[in-house]
Amino acid sequence: MRAMVYRGPYKVRVEDKDMPTIEHPNDAIVRVTMAAICGSDLHLYHGMMPDTRVGTTFGHEFIGVVEQVGPSVRNLKRGDRVMVPFNVYCGSCYFCARGLYSNCHNVNPNATAVGGIYGYSHTCGGYDGGQAEFVRVPFADVGPAIIPDWMDDEDALLCTDALATGYFGAQLADIAEGDVVAVFGAGPIGLYAAKSAWLMGAGRVIVVDHLENRLAKARIFAHAETRNFAEYDDIVVEMKKATGWLGADAVIDCVGAEADGNFTQHVTATKFKLQGGSPVALNWAIDSVRKGGTVSVMGAYGPMFSAVKFGDAMNKGLTLRMNQCPVKRQWPRLFSHIQNGYLKPNDIVTHRIPLEHIAEGYHIFSSKLDNCIKPVVLPNAG
Ligand SMILES: NC(=O)c1ccc[n+]([C@@H]2O[C@H](COP(=O)([O-])OP(=O)(O)OC[C@H]3O[C@@H](n4cnc5c(N)ncnc54)[C@H](O)[C@@H]3O)[C@@H](O)[C@H]2O)c1
Ligand SMILES: [Zn+2]
Ligand SMILES: [Zn+2]
Repeated sequence: MRAMVYRGPYKVRVEDKDMPTIEHPNDAIVRVTMAAICGSDLHLYHGMMPDTRVGTTFGHEFIGVVEQVGPSVRNLKRGDRVMVPFNVYCGSCYFCARGLYSNCHNVNPNATAVGGIYGYSHTCGGYDGGQAEFVRVPFADVGPAIIPDWMDDEDALLCTDALATGYFGAQLADIAEGDVVAVFGAGPIGLYAAKSAWLMGAGRVIVVDHLENRLAKARIFAHAETRNFAEYDDIVVEMKKATGWLGADAVIDCVGAEADGNFTQHVTATKFKLQGGSPVALNWAIDSVRKGGTVSVMGAYGPMFSAVKFGDAMNKGLTLRMNQCPVKRQWPRLFSHIQNGYLKPNDIVTHRIPLEHIAEGYHIFSSKLDNCIKPVVLPNAG
């Protein structure tokens, strides 16, 4: 089969790879009809994620058609159209039983913090991902769901990570009616978090980034106020000014380890790897939220410490909430919001790229060229 293959930082190719096979009775093999590139894939692409091995296939957002099922699979059959959450999880351990699917205890012998994620390095279990013609789906009775007849393929695809994560970010922000919610990052996660904040009762939503096309999308798609942090000496002062000098009630970090805005932090984190990610956006979040407020962290950071302003968070009495998204937990609500028209996920898709051209897709998305916001990958585009 043809598959995206990692060859080292900033190098991905499409190569012939062995077809995945059923390795356990509850596995399924899925023929991928659509995948996406996530901001998280950029951390891998930039060589930021420990134990990203040459030869592995990325891709944790994908939908497809069931090609083959193992002998114990009960919920799926050949030919079913399925959406697959980015988490690999068992569904029955201590953590899965409590809905913490992203923290499953049975799927990742390499770490005790994170569970399993498709195509996300051996730190996250070493599972090959869906930027390929076929993918092995473990625990096939647990994660995947049959795509509802009324749902568009692209909308289903976006439910497998980006939309679920943005929504989760708003959920963890503990939004009360009328709250001022600030969102750092206007990528796919930030756009969905901003949109979701309204669904949870926000009275005002402010999105911060430095890419004008994405801020324009935040105004149109998420009906948010926007601030371009490059236009201010100190964005935190501007955020305080914009919120009656109290700060926002809740702030959602949708940026993560490669945040811009402070040269020293960026270089020590991304070039010299002296910290587990640039904490600029997270520190801006801690500084911009009001005392007693909540910071919800969806941005991904490495396992090592970062220079986070923890003392300030403590002294302000903040609540910090975070996790990899337990995707399937969000689906019942997302399905009804999509069905009744409150959410139209694929409004943010800007690029549709054949798998054979995925290297160009990574380059465009990574360098934020061509007004790219969300690239979709098509394995069978010919
Ligand atoms: N928690 C989860 O389950 C989960 C799931 C998916 C993605 N993520 C993470 O969420 C983050 C965002 O993902 P994405 O797909 O939207 O990525 P993206 O790279 O498309 O978007 C990030 C945005 O942040 C902006 N930015 C950079 N520095 C900033 C700063 N200091 N302040 C404000 N904005 C800044 C960038 O210009 C960009 O628009 C990534 O770290 C990704 O790994 C987490
Ligand atoms: Zn992702
Ligand atoms: Zn589990």
